[in-house]
Amino acid sequence: MSGPNTNFDPKQVASLDVDAVEAMVADARAAFAAADDLDALKAARLAHAGDRSPLALANREIGALPPAAKADAGKRVGQARAAVKTALEEREVVLTQERDARVLESEAVDITLPVGRAAVGGRHPLTTLMERMADVFISMGYDIAEGPEAEAEWANFDALNVPPDHPARTMQDTFYVESADSGVVLRTQTSPIQIRAMLERPLPIYVVAPGRVYRTDELDATHTPVFHQIEGLAVDEGLTMGDLKGTLDHLARQMFGEGIVTRLRPSYFPFTEPSAEVDLECFVCRGASVGDASRACRTCGSEGWIEWGGCGMVNPRVLAAVGIDTDVYRGFAFGMGIERTLMFRNSVTDMRDMVEGDVRFTTAFGVDA
Ligand code: DAH
Repeated sequence: MSGPNTNFDPKQVASLDVDAVEAMVADARAAFAAADDLDALKAARLAHAGDRSPLALANREIGALPPAAKADAGKRVGQARAAVKTALEEREVVLTQERDARVLESEAVDITLPVGRAAVGGRHPLTTLMERMADVFISMGYDIAEGPEAEAEWANFDALNVPPDHPARTMQDTFYVESADSGVVLRTQTSPIQIRAMLERPLPIYVVAPGRVYRTDELDATHTPVFHQIEGLAVDEGLTMGDLKGTLDHLARQMFGEGIVTRLRPSYFPFTEPSAEVDLECFVCRGASVGDASRACRTCGSEGWIEWGGCGMVNPRVLAAVGIDTDVYRGFAFGMGIERTLMFRNSVTDMRDMVEGDVRFTTAFGVDA
């Protein structure tokens, strides 16, 4: 009968002695440190922390030990496995970070790369100004009205009470569409749009009409044969000159800012009665140049005022020409040059800059919507 093996020395199981276990931990640490990517670390994990690793095999040996030795060996191997696990996790964190950094770098998009950029140009300041002026009226409830640039002579002149022998009709001012008796002209003003609006729309009428007009002028600093106007027309019951003045003052403030001073100067247009010229107080000298040679002002020619456009109460003959009852309805109308407005507003001194199409002129106004 055999007795208990009291002489058993755990060190007889070589793989469980202290030095061996420490060596296994050291080997594992060295292998993890040597792994320079996650794939290599995986291989090192299998070798040193996997089911068939020396430590796992040593762990199995514990079961064969007598109870007295089990605790000691179990503790040693358990601590060793924990140390290996910690080393593995630490290395994994480092290698994961390195991998992420590599991915970030290799997949980064270099937005600083130069590309062949196409110049975007810019909207012409006349276009944007025309829209701004029209917007002032849109916000007051006006509609936009339109008409053709090749216009019936009747709408451009006759219906506007411009008699056949009026000098403005002569070849000096008007581009006729061949032949001279075709009855078609390139519109010399936006006022024929008033006629079209009154023929086409129900009363009351509140319209504004920006557009291109033509006159046989030579191109110079203050003239161009193709230019732009904005026309306004209101036809309603009980309209007065006061309504006209208030409307023009509102437009002037929107264009030139609060504090702008306007005046109506008696004038003559066949299609309005009474007629007036609307002037702006010169915003450069504010009138100080008048009669004072030492303060001569180039902007207003020392007049103190600059002419902006024409206006008046619609001539009853014009209302009658389009069949509107002049006992019930009255109208006011106005028209001003867009080029002139741009010159005053932005200190453009030469109209030729506006027609030459140099993008540097256009882009200087910014990318206004
Ligand atoms: N059509 C005129 C011009 O070209 C400007 C004008 C004056 C328009 C008086 C109007 C107006 O509507 O009432 O000189």
